[in-house]
Amino acid sequence: MMDKLTHGILLARIAKQIFVSKVTGKRIPVTVSLHVTNKCNMRCRYCYANFEARFDNPPDDFTTLELISLIDEIHAEGCRWVILLGGEPLMRDDIGFIIRYIKKKGMLCELVTNGTLLAQRLDDVKNVDLTCVSLDGPKAVNDAIRGKGTYDLAVNGLKIAKDHGIKTRIHATITTLNNNAKSIKHLAYLAAKFNTTFGFSSPILHEYNEIDELQVPPEDMVKFWKLLKTLKTKYGRNYYTYHALDRAISWPLAPLDVIKDMDRVCELGLDKCHVGERYCYIDSEGYAYPCIVQGIKKGLNVKKVGFKKAWDYLARFTCHACAYVQYMELNDVLDMAWHSIMLGFNVFFK
Ligand SMILES: C[S@@+](CC[C@H](N)C(=O)[O-])C[C@H]1O[C@@H](n2cnc3c(N)ncnc32)[C@H](O)[C@@H]1O
Repeated sequence: MMDKLTHGILLARIAKQIFVSKVTGKRIPVTVSLHVTNKCNMRCRYCYANFEARFDNPPDDFTTLELISLIDEIHAEGCRWVILLGGEPLMRDDIGFIIRYIKKKGMLCELVTNGTLLAQRLDDVKNVDLTCVSLDGPKAVNDAIRGKGTYDLAVNGLKIAKDHGIKTRIHATITTLNNNAKSIKHLAYLAAKFNTTFGFSSPILHEYNEIDELQVPPEDMVKFWKLLKTLKTKYGRNYYTYHALDRAISWPLAPLDVIKDMDRVCELGLDKCHVGERYCYIDSEGYAYPCIVQGIKKGLNVKKVGFKKAWDYLARFTCHACAYVQYMELNDVLDMAWHSIMLGFNVFFK
């Protein structure tokens, strides 16, 4: 009960910031995805974060003090929802302190993890509001993409989370290996087994991803969204809304195209994206981006110029739309669309 009340208060704080941004037109970084480390114990073939193979020779991570003052800054600018990523965030020795600090500031804390270190970091993870475990499908599929043995570790992480009442979601990335009914059904099965939900992200492509043979052809992407929609109805547990899936299905351009011109967004009757306006990424070197789809290292470095200046700089990257389902959904959340309110309700209160 207390949990529900706490989550209700956290969600209300997020809603308030979105409301203020909508009413006043002020850009507020309500949600910030914060990459806290370049260290990773996995080498997923598609990883956008392993930019120029930096996981093999990690540049200096934020110090604890740098992260604490960054969290102060993003909070002061209006952030109420921090998503911790990496690298593998649980590889930071001070991650428990960082999580507690975010919670002390009254923000919702989400953690994205490969699940491998969940047992060791249980006391820290218990303080997180939502833990997203990355897992791409059945064992053979997952391990071919994310590395041998990683399926068992991730599933074990889900089991431990369930046993300790930790709220989770399972997150997969679409590739040629898992864009099929078998993988969707398997994730629905795992989600039911561990009392959680699952979703698939559109793949974000960069010249340095090892993704060529994993890249789903455009026509198959749409087929996949249709299949996911059908199986969602049959098996449930998929956290994307029908609204987001329908928009990915009816997207008028190629599935991974983006529209950067606001006139075109209006002409096609699409929803304007709010990344860069109510959301941003900060990578583990300190660069702030509106979103990864728009490109890595697109912004200024918070270590050099501070968060406010880096955030203000992102104003120039707003106004565009895309069919990356994860951003469509996030965008709806950041717009307080009614179906997204239901999504929040399903994640936190069911
Ligand atoms: C970069 S990882 C960092 C957190 C953690 N190490 C993990 O594996 O979840 C965050 C999420 O991004 C996903 N991801 C990585 N590369 C991607 C890409 N090119 N396109 C879409 N999602 C990607 C991962 O599968 C994971 O769910």
